[in-house]
Amino acid sequence: MAAEEKRRIMCVGLVCLDIISVVEAFPAEDSDTRCLSQRWQRGGNASNSCTVLSLLGAPCAFMGSLAPGPAADFIAADFQRRGVDTAHVAWQPRGDVPCACCLVNAASGSRTIVLHDTNLPDVTARDFQRVDLAQYRWIHFEARNAAEQSAMLERVERHNRAAAPGRRVQVSVEVEKPREELLPLMGRGNVVFISKDLAQHFGYRSAAEAVQGLRGRIRPGATLICAWAEEGADALGPDGQLVHSDAFPPETLVDTLGAGDTFNAAVIFALAEGGHKQIWHGRGSVWHGHGSPRTPPPGRTLQDALTFGCRIAGRKCGIQGFDGLV
Ligand code: FRU
Repeated sequence: MAAEEKRRIMCVGLVCLDIISVVEAFPAEDSDTRCLSQRWQRGGNASNSCTVLSLLGAPCAFMGSLAPGPAADFIAADFQRRGVDTAHVAWQPRGDVPCACCLVNAASGSRTIVLHDTNLPDVTARDFQRVDLAQYRWIHFEARNAAEQSAMLERVERHNRAAAPGRRVQVSVEVEKPREELLPLMGRGNVVFISKDLAQHFGYRSAAEAVQGLRGRIRPGATLICAWAEEGADALGPDGQLVHSDAFPPETLVDTLGAGDTFNAAVIFALAEGGHKQIWHGRGSVWHGHGSPRTPPPGRTLQDALTFGCRIAGRKCGIQGFDGLV
């Protein structure tokens, strides 16, 4: 394996405990019903993206905060089960592991999330100093604590200025929530993911409108990507070219929890060239699986990455959780 292929992908952001009840129909307020099934699942955008990267076969690492206790035990064991490196998890002496109560409607696949995420400190730029950047080919930031993350991004930028072209760390940023302090982070990173929510917050009615309208917020040469559920995804590439992929909806939508995180991971995977030939050329099922139309063998263009992202995200929506995604 070439040295390049050994470099990992790191996702920085939230890990939480998702307590998921799968319901037959969305309950009325103040009602008392039974669910079809219930499970604990490791959640959080960055953490879910690690799950998917790992399932796709990319060596990856998670960086975020945890506090000791039963929720963290469950989460740590699950990271281990998926082969996600947790050496850079910041164990906080106080605070609660964020926990979300999630209702997944089995009839529509919709997910309704109520997250408790209040008092666990996020990882800091100081924690990030301990990361040996030479070990990573790509670092993905889920925008959260903007000031600290800005300092982390500065460190990566400094590293890249001094590094040989083949040793640079690619950077992506996801801005999901329309919180004012997160918006400047769109100006950082080679690849910027924005959510449908954020786009709608700005008044855009489609992903194509959003990436064109918000292009002034990314830095020159960066790529802006917006996924829009059943309408697929659009991107604005480094040369200003617009790229679109339709969605690949499963026969039945059963669980959309983490579909966006799945999309991000699959796009990153596709763009983070090299070392994954088994997926790109050998393991046809990822590309041609489950009755989906045959596509020509992929390259690694933005178009391919977007299509791959939509395809894998579509598959995720057809299954409960992530087991069996690949
Ligand atoms: C899905 C998710 C869940 C989590 C919530 C946090 O994208 O990461 O796993 O409960 O969003 O906002």
